[in-house]
Amino acid sequence: MTLYIDCCARENSRTRILAKALLEKLGEHEELYLYKEGLKFLDAERLAKRERLISSGEYGDPEFKYARQWAAADTIVIAAPFWDLSFPAVLKAYIENIYITGIVSRYDEDGRPQGLCKAEKLYFVTTAGGPLDNRYGYEYIRTLARDYFGIKEVKLIKAEMLDVVGFDEKEIMDKTINSIDP
Ligand SMILES: Cc1cc2nc3c(=O)[nH]c(=O)nc-3n(C[C@H](O)[C@H](O)[C@H](O)COP(=O)(O)O)c2cc1C
Repeated sequence: MTLYIDCCARENSRTRILAKALLEKLGEHEELYLYKEGLKFLDAERLAKRERLISSGEYGDPEFKYARQWAAADTIVIAAPFWDLSFPAVLKAYIENIYITGIVSRYDEDGRPQGLCKAEKLYFVTTAGGPLDNRYGYEYIRTLARDYFGIKEVKLIKAEMLDVVGFDEKEIMDKTINSIDP
């Protein structure tokens, strides 16, 4: 099953339009709209709970439902607009919730991360008002997915310069949509 993670706050989000065009080609999917999930950031109390559950091997606990869902997905699509050189905070909160050692990754005898996720491919879909800088958004997600979660292929689908006067938003969006080839 394809897992679609929607991190788009705006009703008429252009990032979501791109993601939907991709999902049409990928077929059936399960959707998580992060703004409606009531995700909580990690705090002292939750960290202590998480450590207790991990040390007693209770990976089936409801606390880890997002991690189990992520690890079991066949394909993952993340739609997140380019915000402040990165992506919306709700996605970071989600990552705090899924990154559970023992479910999405483990460490080998040399202390190196080994991915435990089933997905072969992750798509990161984004749009930017100006020029897209991949360093703190896409590159971070790609490193995490490939080097820590074991997801072999990570692909970027993007439309940029959408808010710059003189650039044709519709033309840029259409061009990206027409180039989507999963
Ligand atoms: C909170 C916020 C931060 C943003 N930061 C940037 C930025 O750092 N660089 C940039 O080029 N555009 C930035 N933008 C513009 C968005 O990247 C652009 O409008 C994008 O297409 C919004 O996606 P959406 O249509 O899916 O909401 C920002 C927009 C918002 C609302």
